[in-house]
Amino acid sequence: MDVDSGRETPLARRGSPRFIADRPHLVDDAEAALRLGKHVLLRGPTGSGKTRLAEALAERLGLEMESVNCSVDLDLEALLGYRTLGIAEGRTVVEYVEGPVVRAMRLGRMLYIDELNVARPEVLPILHGALDHRRRLTNPLTAEVVQAHPNFCVIAAINEGYAGTSPLNEALLNRFVVFDVPYVQGEALAQLIREATALAGAHHVERFVRLSADLVRASEVGELPVEAASIRALLDACDLSTQMPPLRAVRYAVAGKLSDPREQDLVMELASSYFGGA
Ligand SMILES: Nc1ncnc2c1ncn2[C@@H]1O[C@H](COP(=O)(O)OP(=O)(O)OP(=O)(O)O)[C@@H](O)[C@H]1O
Ligand SMILES: [Mg+2]
Repeated sequence: MDVDSGRETPLARRGSPRFIADRPHLVDDAEAALRLGKHVLLRGPTGSGKTRLAEALAERLGLEMESVNCSVDLDLEALLGYRTLGIAEGRTVVEYVEGPVVRAMRLGRMLYIDELNVARPEVLPILHGALDHRRRLTNPLTAEVVQAHPNFCVIAAINEGYAGTSPLNEALLNRFVVFDVPYVQGEALAQLIREATALAGAHHVERFVRLSADLVRASEVGELPVEAASIRALLDACDLSTQMPPLRAVRYAVAGKLSDPREQDLVMELASSYFGGA
């Protein structure tokens, strides 16, 4: 079997790779915005590194991170906390358990709000006061006014055009500065593959970078859905290709996620032009 097993650690769990962008100023500019007290919105397709970038920014700023994952079920409790019964000095008392937004504001942490545009729009206005110059909100669960610690900052991520998303309310969008996070390409992608996967041979890395460019191009002209070019999927294919023929790796990690057989065939056709003989 023609495999390119650079390292013999198939069971190794790698840590998160560092965020790598083809535009080096992306990370610096987002960091500068946060240091200036702005909140940051990362906009990009699935698997483009938005969460990884937010983690990298938290590291750079030396901040702990609180996370909220939005869904259509997201309610105020998931953001602000909830009341529960507890025991104090032998008596039953009502206790308030802080949610991630209140904790991040009070302790000066970074709040990461994933998939902001999946939440029902009527839940989010509670955040408006926390996100503008007032930097405070009134917690309806405790009737307390929470004033944000100076280090408090928010990074939100959105995945535009994905099923189940709704356009962000203008007033909310207006409270962020927006950074686009496209799929990393070219030499930066080659570097990411070398750092984040078990694939070591330059020849194979180069072929996966070119396949990625083809997938991006096909999605730009509408022949494939955007997520077909996901870097997450490509990195999975690179890893798998160290243990099996690359075409099979691409089938499992990239083509297999698409529901339309014609789209699957197109991915495999593109991959065959690089790995047909492998
Ligand atoms: N530019 C990049 N730098 C470093 N890692 C990246 C990059 N792009 C993708 N990845 C890797 O791809 C995987 C997916 O990245 P991540 O979870 O940050 O994507 P995402 O944009 O948040 O996706 P989703 O919208 O599905 O949440 C991770 O393993 C991540 O390390
Ligand atoms: Mg993410």
